[in-house]
Amino acid sequence: MDNKLQVANALAAVLKDQLSVVEIQNKIEMPKTSDLGDLAFPTFMLAKALRKAPQQIAADIVAEIDQTGFEKVVATGPYVNFFLDKQLVGANILHEILTDGAAYGNNTDGEMRNVPIDMSSPNIAKPMSMGHLRSTVIGNALANILVKNGYNPVKINHLGDWGTQFGKLMVAYKMWGSEAEVKADPINTLVAYYVRFHEEAKANPELDDQGRAWFKKLEDGDEEAQQLWKWFRDESLQEFLNIYDQLEITFDSFNGEAFYNDKMDEIVNLLEDKGLLVESQGAQIVDLEKYNLPVAMIKRTDGATLYMTRDLAAAMYRKREYDFDKSFYVVGGEQREHFQQLKAVLKEAGFAWSDDIEHIPFGLITVDGKKLSTRSGRIILLQDVLDDAVKLANEQINDKNPDLANKEQVAKEVGVGAVIFHDLQNERMNSFDFNLAEVVRFEGDTGPYVQYSNARANSILRKAGNPELVNAELSLTDAAAWDTLKLLGEFPATVRRALNDREPSVIAKYALHLSRAYNKYYANSKILVEDNEKDARLALVQAVSIVLTESLRLLGVHAPKEM
Ligand code: ARG
Repeated sequence: MDNKLQVANALAAVLKDQLSVVEIQNKIEMPKTSDLGDLAFPTFMLAKALRKAPQQIAADIVAEIDQTGFEKVVATGPYVNFFLDKQLVGANILHEILTDGAAYGNNTDGEMRNVPIDMSSPNIAKPMSMGHLRSTVIGNALANILVKNGYNPVKINHLGDWGTQFGKLMVAYKMWGSEAEVKADPINTLVAYYVRFHEEAKANPELDDQGRAWFKKLEDGDEEAQQLWKWFRDESLQEFLNIYDQLEITFDSFNGEAFYNDKMDEIVNLLEDKGLLVESQGAQIVDLEKYNLPVAMIKRTDGATLYMTRDLAAAMYRKREYDFDKSFYVVGGEQREHFQQLKAVLKEAGFAWSDDIEHIPFGLITVDGKKLSTRSGRIILLQDVLDDAVKLANEQINDKNPDLANKEQVAKEVGVGAVIFHDLQNERMNSFDFNLAEVVRFEGDTGPYVQYSNARANSILRKAGNPELVNAELSLTDAAAWDTLKLLGEFPATVRRALNDREPSVIAKYALHLSRAYNKYYANSKILVEDNEKDARLALVQAVSIVLTESLRLLGVHAPKEM
């Protein structure tokens, strides 16, 4: 049983007239230092109802409470401090983990409700950026965390495959492009066309008009425009799929912006019927003054639709298709206003479910303190990052464990895992500076460190012959094991907190803590010594491996058994 619940149950037996178990659970705190016990209950809020000083209330509770299952319960000023019976609690935790295996920490909070996650969503004919990597790995981890909490996530890649830039690209291709060139190196070539278009358009603004005209043709179903569009899209998507493959991330849907092409009338008409659509300099807009937001543009002067228009249609489509509980958008913080506008327009249109739309923003990745941008040429290609990470991992393995059997596979799992873990260990709103060598280090706060801790645990278990331990005697008298046991017991609450905060970093930080606690334990105890606690020590090692492996899995990172 959850330790907090155990404490709350004991308290509730005394305080049943004042507080419910849940209310008590919410009040329970962690004492600042472990000499004050493992959990504490403050009594201030009872003073008024009981007309007693908090100190007195604490003392009275201690006099009355059933102390079975605790080492001791004491009053310290206005607090009731609980010292858990470490052997009992520890044995229970180990038993639970060994019984549940990877399912340890699962809950059914979500009742299988649907949560679409708009994630990754790179733009066709542009390279996938580090920002898209962040969205991809954060979205994927959130999807795993949702499943662990009993929800049904739907991973949607809202590809940027529509918009005026395609018109520009077509103009550029027709003027300077060649089919063979595009085929040989699709994204780089298309980007080069696009950049050249922008340069030449500075001197020759007439090009912009042509670009708009071609996009209009595309929207109106012109055959040549359609064909070019489809070709550009297929070629770029192939490169993206290649990266997703390496990250081992899959999607439930690739319905991007173009998918909503024929689905925008409904919202546009609705806004019109409600008198929300107003004309401004020839364009159609929705005024959002009362939300303190800039106007949302719904149609351009030439009648062409916008990013916003397609997002409105997409939101409605998702509501209808998935009847969502929440609808997540894992998109960089720079689009905060866009999502505020999206929600506001839907709210104006009368959709109460607009409140369930949640933008989950994240911070910027910089290099040497500078912002990345396609236009300035300061970009990091994701493919290069992954390649370099795997190479570095390979070198480290060659150093440490040159005889490892499936070296190449493990190097991939460590290198790619390092990149993913590094991205996820930072709170998502924190911006961070990217430094590859730092990402792939085996020591310190890194993914490989967690993987390595798990591999070491597995190696001990192998040495012991991978024994079956669920039914063994699992109490440990060794006080040094307590920190690790306590952390193991906190995994289920950690899984909930990660979802509640929409923060994969909660899991990553937890995995680092657990690794550190375990390594400390491991350094100070002789696990394989033959005495009557050997099974319990091995059970602890096995439990650590189960929980580390599961934590990494939630983040989308492999946990090799040897490295
Ligand atoms: N393609 C966009 C970009 O790269 C992100 C799309 C996010 N999703 C959405 N539904 N707007 O900036």
